[in-house]
Amino acid sequence: MSRAAVLTGIGAMVPPREVGNDAFAERLATSDEWIRTRTGIRKRHMVDPGTSTSDLAVEAGQRALKSAGRDQVDLVVLATATPDYPLPGTAPDVASRLGLDHVPAFDVAAVCAGFVYALATAAGTIGAGLTDRVLVIGAEAFSTILDPTDRGTAILFGDGAGAVVLERGPADAPGALLGFDLGSDGSMADLIMIPGGGSRQRSGGAPPDADRAWFTMQGREVFGQAATRMAESTRTLLKTIDWPVESVDRFVGHQANVRILHAVSDLIGLPRERAVVHLDQVGNTSAASIPLALAHAAATGQLLPGHRVAMSAFGGGLAWGSAALVWPDVVPG
Ligand code: COA
Repeated sequence: MSRAAVLTGIGAMVPPREVGNDAFAERLATSDEWIRTRTGIRKRHMVDPGTSTSDLAVEAGQRALKSAGRDQVDLVVLATATPDYPLPGTAPDVASRLGLDHVPAFDVAAVCAGFVYALATAAGTIGAGLTDRVLVIGAEAFSTILDPTDRGTAILFGDGAGAVVLERGPADAPGALLGFDLGSDGSMADLIMIPGGGSRQRSGGAPPDADRAWFTMQGREVFGQAATRMAESTRTLLKTIDWPVESVDRFVGHQANVRILHAVSDLIGLPRERAVVHLDQVGNTSAASIPLALAHAAATGQLLPGHRVAMSAFGGGLAWGSAALVWPDVVPG
């Protein structure tokens, strides 16, 4: 039997507190109308004080394991840009709280592209014979790093977590990951960053001031990069696995802005209706974005067993990644 990585379960969660666009209009120079028409976002969910990324990851992980009918895995890979602490990694804590004692567990830091990077890493360990079953989680408490006074970023992001179980199986099984395309361009790192708190800043001798600890993004430049990179990466992937663009039933792109999803669809020549849209409900949830969109689409019947699915993500780094699979018969946990 070939050693493909096959998706056998999926789970997702968002914290209960909903924040509508009007909440920003009350305190920033913005409006529900601007946010809806420029981004497509209607609301997002945010953690309450005391709740962190690991709490969301544990819940999504439990749901994915339930969906797969499993209670053990060989590895946990957690994609996040908002770990509970600068160190240690958050994945070991998540694994312990899931009862997965002593399994290897580590974080992947590729910001909004993190889930696809984590998926590729996990699939690689299965292909290499290191593991037979992996829990891959994308989780973010992104609201915790947003500058509440910056209307250019505060309105865009939300919190949540999604997870999948990958298991060793045949390459022709539904759910088998059929290929990846990954890339990065660090020359544009300054477009999306938290300037303080890392060694670049701390080598000056002190922890960061509050004004250097917030997330920053140059939205207009990022918009163009996001559309171009996701389109190029998706095209490359489809060529590698020999899928004509028109054969893709669902495009699950990083949920940052509905106008970016439309731009990518137009650039690759796919009807816009095939792009799954979930950002209206949850905003940009960074590394949780793709698994949350997959789970939502599967739960609402937009994604059906047998559908050809192309996913593509883009974010800080810059880093981007795409992956493809035929959707399996799984029920989100
Ligand atoms: N409410 C009202 N006005 C706003 C605003 C807000 N929340 N945010 C920005 N504006 C203003 C700007 O200040 C600017 O005003 P000016 O013309 O007086 O300078 C105007 O709207 C247009 O700004 P611009 O940045 O060109 O808007 P945009 O149409 O590009 O939309 C984003 C801004 C952030 C929504 C958009 O650029 C975006 O989605 N970027 C990509 C995000 C992304 O892909 N992230 C993925 C990686 S994590």
